Amino acid sequence: MSKILVTGGAGFIGSNFIRILIGQGTHQVVNLDALTYAGNLESLHDVAADERYSFVRADITDVPAIRTAFEQHKPDIVVHFAAESHVDRSVLDATAFVNTNVVGTQVLLDASRANSVQRFVHVSTDEVYGSLGPTGAFTEETPLAPSSPYSASKTGSDLLVRAAFHTHGFPCVTTRCSNNYGPYQFPEKLIPLMIMNALADKNLPVYGDGKNVRDWIYVTDHCKGILAVMEKGRDGEVYNIGGRSEKRNIDVVKTLLAILGKSESLITYVTDRPGHDFRYAIDNTKIRNELGWEPDHTFETALRQTVEWYASHIEWCDRVRSGAYMEYYEKQYGQRLG
Ligand code: NAD
Ligand code: TYD
Repeated sequence: MSKILVTGGAGFIGSNFIRILIGQGTHQVVNLDALTYAGNLESLHDVAADERYSFVRADITDVPAIRTAFEQHKPDIVVHFAAESHVDRSVLDATAFVNTNVVGTQVLLDASRANSVQRFVHVSTDEVYGSLGPTGAFTEETPLAPSSPYSASKTGSDLLVRAAFHTHGFPCVTTRCSNNYGPYQFPEKLIPLMIMNALADKNLPVYGDGKNVRDWIYVTDHCKGILAVMEKGRDGEVYNIGGRSEKRNIDVVKTLLAILGKSESLITYVTDRPGHDFRYAIDNTKIRNELGWEPDHTFETALRQTVEWYASHIEWCDRVRSGAYMEYYEKQYGQRLG
């Protein structure tokens, strides 16, 4: 049984990944998370009591705390999700993005090397490749050309991981995925925000003309791609992960309204995001051919499931919106957040 340390496991993708790992029954999982606004331990309520799961509250930029966590837990594998992840926040203030995404990744690489971690899986994003025009797709050879402070900081982390492999021969592998959707996503991102607003009959703010394109993937398909890379990926390599499901934002929003039976009059066009990337699209040939991975879900079916999940987890949604989700840690672990 290997011990896997997951950073950012209280976030959207990390919590879905941990649920899959615990479900497999063959790993011990340490969830290391600082519990920023995006960290929600309520998303893991169903696995919290499992004897193979443990939680460590630590900030990946805190060198002594990370050193201690690694020395205590001695992980075999690190899967690194922890990040500041929202583009709009990075436009307002990039400081936390540079600290967590760039500095924090180096702190983890140093601790992992010092503790002879056997494999470091770095979870990155297709946004490091920048923006596409109307045609073409990102391959692993596409030059890095990030355009937001978020994607620039993720690119910095990718390059530090690359350097750890080339300089020290440290066994790292990087994944770059397109936009995820599914259960437990913080409602600052397009799909959960639009579902929750529509459920409450509030306006749906569409940036610019709504014609920007994202390549959507259901979160568990992404998680299974990360697992495939963790188990079978080659050291020093990058693997793109994407659902080959390109949609214009306005079409996603209209589909959500149709599923919910709500009026398109809720759509409100608002001022565009500064530097808004026009289009992302992933060529996933490498991971399909080399690791035999492919997505299990179509956009149409999984979007419907996602809407049903939010509609039937109104309490989770309300507690996120009110901030009450933060009380869970204080009750469960007897310590105050802050
Ligand atoms: P998220 O914002 O939902 O979760 C981030 C988690 O990291 C939170 O639990 C937060 O508390 C934790 N965290 C933040 N700063 C930390 C710090 N300094 N120390 C320790 N923990 C910290 O993010 P997500 O959407 O789950 O994304 C996870 C990873 O996947 C990120 O690295 C992101 O770049 C990448 N990614 C996301 C998407 C997407 O569509 N959401 C797509 C491709 C790649
Ligand atoms: P987002 O979920 O923030 O992901 P990313 O910017 O990392 O791709 O946004 C997805 C798309 O939806 C992006 O083109 C911006 C757009 N968007 C809106 O139109 N309105 C919104 O309120 C949000 C949050 C995003």
